[in-house]
Amino acid sequence: PSSASREKEKTLAIIKPDGFSGNYTGEIKRLILLSGFSILKEKIVHLDKENVALFYAEHSERTFFPSLVKYMTSGPVVVIVLEKVNAIADWRALIGPTDAQKAKITHPDSVRALCGLNSERNCVHGSDSPQSAAKEISFFFGEMFSSGEVIANHDEL
Ligand code: TYD
Ligand code: MG
Repeated sequence: PSSASREKEKTLAIIKPDGFSGNYTGEIKRLILLSGFSILKEKIVHLDKENVALFYAEHSERTFFPSLVKYMTSGPVVVIVLEKVNAIADWRALIGPTDAQKAKITHPDSVRALCGLNSERNCVHGSDSPQSAAKEISFFFGEMFSSGEVIANHDEL
């Protein structure tokens, strides 16, 4: 491996409404730490429609979009910045495929197999590239996240 691939990376994880309300936060954070990630930042927020429309802008024309907005605004989520070598790909591998129903068959040890329900209610999010990781981290921890309600911050968790 080149020296560049051994640099630490940051990625964004979200424990979605069903994960949070189903009390999976502790178990998911245990898996995160067991897998060698550090948790750099964390907050609990309740997203509004505008937040979700911005965060999932690339999917705004999909037929599932209105339902996704309804789901993502249905309750609080936990937003977490993870760090480790190869964090982006490793977190995607740990969460498993988008369709949690498939994850239960093909990736039974994944987070989505643990707490997801289907291709919409899949319990967790992970950034899919260095570009989206940078954008998504700044969305929640930079200037862009303004209208959603912050319920708790890292130090209080
Ligand atoms: P996508 O970026 O394809 O998946 P991933 O979360 O694995 O990166 O889709 C983003 C979210 O959109 C997905 O987590 C849940 C929702 N979604 C649906 O509700 N229905 C679908 O058919 C798909 C593909 C996604
Ligand atoms: Mg995606």
